Amino acid sequence: MDAAETSKAKIASLIQDWKSLSLSGFWCSPFVLKPMISFQTHFQAFDSDVMVATFPKCGTTWLKALTFSTLYRSQFSRGGIEHPLLNSTPHQLVHFLEIDVYMNNPFPDLENICVYKPRLFGTHVPYASLPTSIKDSKCKIVYICRNPMDMFISLWLFSNKLRGENQESLSPDKAFDMLCRGICMFGPFFDHALEYWNASQENPDKVLLLKYEDLKEDINSQLKRLAMFLGVPFNEDEEKQGVVAEIAKVCSFDKLRELEVNKKGVHISGIPHKDFFRKGKVGDWSNYLTPSMVERLEKLIHEKLDGSGLTF
Ligand code: A3P
Repeated sequence: MDAAETSKAKIASLIQDWKSLSLSGFWCSPFVLKPMISFQTHFQAFDSDVMVATFPKCGTTWLKALTFSTLYRSQFSRGGIEHPLLNSTPHQLVHFLEIDVYMNNPFPDLENICVYKPRLFGTHVPYASLPTSIKDSKCKIVYICRNPMDMFISLWLFSNKLRGENQESLSPDKAFDMLCRGICMFGPFFDHALEYWNASQENPDKVLLLKYEDLKEDINSQLKRLAMFLGVPFNEDEEKQGVVAEIAKVCSFDKLRELEVNKKGVHISGIPHKDFFRKGKVGDWSNYLTPSMVERLEKLIHEKLDGSGLTF
């Protein structure tokens, strides 16, 4: 059997063996199952690869834009090619592996998918379930985490937008209860965040964990951290010329949301591009969560995160 046939056989047997999928311990919607298995079995990481890993609604779109702009800045900065973010959405420039690249093709041509080099991809897959070559190689992973309360509101409103006209909206109570029980795409949320957090503590050169709130508070210093981690630190000239601030600006919520490319069209997953941009604020949860919800979530945050070093 050649490599392609071996991969095909593995995929076929995994799809039949539902038990092995439940062992990976996270919730995966049926439409992602097959591409996810293809991703797990086919993808071979290079040491030079960069992965943007996130839990949904924690700032994926923003982190993709920032990582893309930082990593490739020498290729289109200052009078060179127009910035690609002006004409393509962050998700078109940094493709999700499981919900894009492998969606309709178990053996995609990864070289052609990444126009710029080194290769840069996105994923929502939990750390434990990433292909082993990602974990075993020197490829770098940037992860973004967000206060669970804001993540929940963003996720709940987003999920309701995705429901068809004939589908009833998910009530906040039901959605909240499901989230607290860990039932959501790629959930449980706390396991997802903790796995990447622990990996970042064990191997800080490989995994960098950023927080949405820190980016909001001081984007320049977080961008410098990101650039340093990626091995492309900003030099003195760049800092003097305002390159850091330029990247922050082109990736900002207000800038991206107003671009035609982000107002129109639909992502390969069927999600309208505009739905990736809602408010982009910290603390919006206070407009939605009841005191008893806050109490339950705070208790859960303590239960899950105390002693881990990860705080919100
Ligand atoms: P809100 O729903 O709270 O507004 P993801 O990209 O992981 O799907 O996360 C979406 C959340 O990030 C949404 O949060 C969205 O508005 C916000 N967001 C999108 N682009 C952003 C940007 N450039 N800066 C800050 N927040 C952004």
